[in-house]
Amino acid sequence: MVNTVIMGQGYVGLPLAQGLANTGTQKSVLGFDVSERVVNNLNNGISHIDDISNAEVSEIIAKGYRATCTPADIATADTVVICVPTPLYETGEPDLSYVESAVQLIADNMSPGTLVVLESTTYPGTTEDLVRPMLEKGGRELDKDFYLAFSPERIDPGNKQYKITNTPKIVGGSSAESTKRALAFYTQFIETVIETVGTREAETAKLLENTYRHVNIALMNEMAMFCHELGIDVWEVVRLASSKPYGFQAFYPGPGVGGHCIPVDPNYLSYEVKRRLGVPFRFIEMATDINTGMPNYVVGRIQDLLNDQSKALKGSRVLLLGVTYKPDIADLRESPALEVAELLLDKGADMVFHDPHATQFRVHGEMLQGQTDLDAALAAADVVVLLQAHKAYDLEDIASKSKVIFDTRGKLSGANVERL
Ligand SMILES: NC(=O)c1ccc[n+]([C@@H]2O[C@H](COP(=O)([O-])OP(=O)(O)OC[C@H]3O[C@@H](n4cnc5c(N)ncnc54)[C@H](O)[C@@H]3O)[C@@H](O)[C@H]2O)c1
Repeated sequence: MVNTVIMGQGYVGLPLAQGLANTGTQKSVLGFDVSERVVNNLNNGISHIDDISNAEVSEIIAKGYRATCTPADIATADTVVICVPTPLYETGEPDLSYVESAVQLIADNMSPGTLVVLESTTYPGTTEDLVRPMLEKGGRELDKDFYLAFSPERIDPGNKQYKITNTPKIVGGSSAESTKRALAFYTQFIETVIETVGTREAETAKLLENTYRHVNIALMNEMAMFCHELGIDVWEVVRLASSKPYGFQAFYPGPGVGGHCIPVDPNYLSYEVKRRLGVPFRFIEMATDINTGMPNYVVGRIQDLLNDQSKALKGSRVLLLGVTYKPDIADLRESPALEVAELLLDKGADMVFHDPHATQFRVHGEMLQGQTDLDAALAAADVVVLLQAHKAYDLEDIASKSKVIFDTRGKLSGANVERL
């Protein structure tokens, strides 16, 4: 029986702890987090993650899971997995301070022979050039005093089909022995584990996955803008192209990109290419340009719709429907709805929102309360903007009760519907 410590109990670390605790192979699974609030809640059976219920937290506690903020607990582990945030600084550069502080805690507390695995999304070379030297400090040696690997997380919040155990996992070690040990660790609870030589390929594979989506979404966003100018329905275009059984994968336009994978992660790759090779990663930079411009484009289209009614944006009631970054979840991180809302307020619109998953929404530092009576909100709006097509919404009913609805998700049709 072994012990595992998982550093960071967020969207990635908690499902990982759950998957591992459910195997029954562990003496204990410790979820280490620097947030006392997170730790106390988890130990009291309260989840802060959409995909994990309170009952599921209690279930894993019964199987040997515990949350902790005590660094000395790291010494009890055979394996330590790092799932801490990797955001960007305001300048757009990778912020690895969370990874550094987690690795420092591990270096200060780990026992000899510990396997350390980094899962946080980061630029190629982080495991070898940043994590390894920190663990080697004080004379420790790889393959003797510790083992090291990178295994990118692939959590997809809200995905009911693919969870931690049935999503294939890539594993690359800093040495052959490290790879072997990391493979043995993940095969305990993950159905398909894919081995690679070296950590850089594993790090880059994750960035390729996210960049691929980033670029293809940008292509569709640009397509949507040109199709609008040309009087072509882009949604119908995608439907038709999707009938080809090979060589085409459908991506869709939208009001911008949110969450972590698309707006943040590809920048880790372009940053490293620029830093190491001195050249821009043109595809990523262009995609970022297009995708981050979408909220502004959406606001322009709202303005046009009001103009058609001889109304100015200033003073008009604009109702945003769905402000989370994905459908059917409560996560607001990097949601493009935030920028749409800010731009509308900046231009003097009487902006309100409704979201069945998020009752509050912080805009320009002020916590706004969502509309509670949807029918009344629809009746009062000069323009309704569908930003997120949550399943909880009866879209036909919403459209029938709206004067004009701007559908950024291509779900509706009708005389009062304008599609992106
Ligand atoms: N959530 C996703 O859908 C998603 C998708 C792709 C990639 N990722 C990547 O996964 C990694 C983790 O993201 P997340 O979504 O789980 O973040 P999160 O913000 O949900 O959770 C991170 C947790 O780590 C804790 N933490 C911060 N510093 C710490 C430290 N030094 N030691 C221990 N705990 C610490 C925080 O308190 C927080 O609870 C990031 O690299 C992110 O890019 C996440």
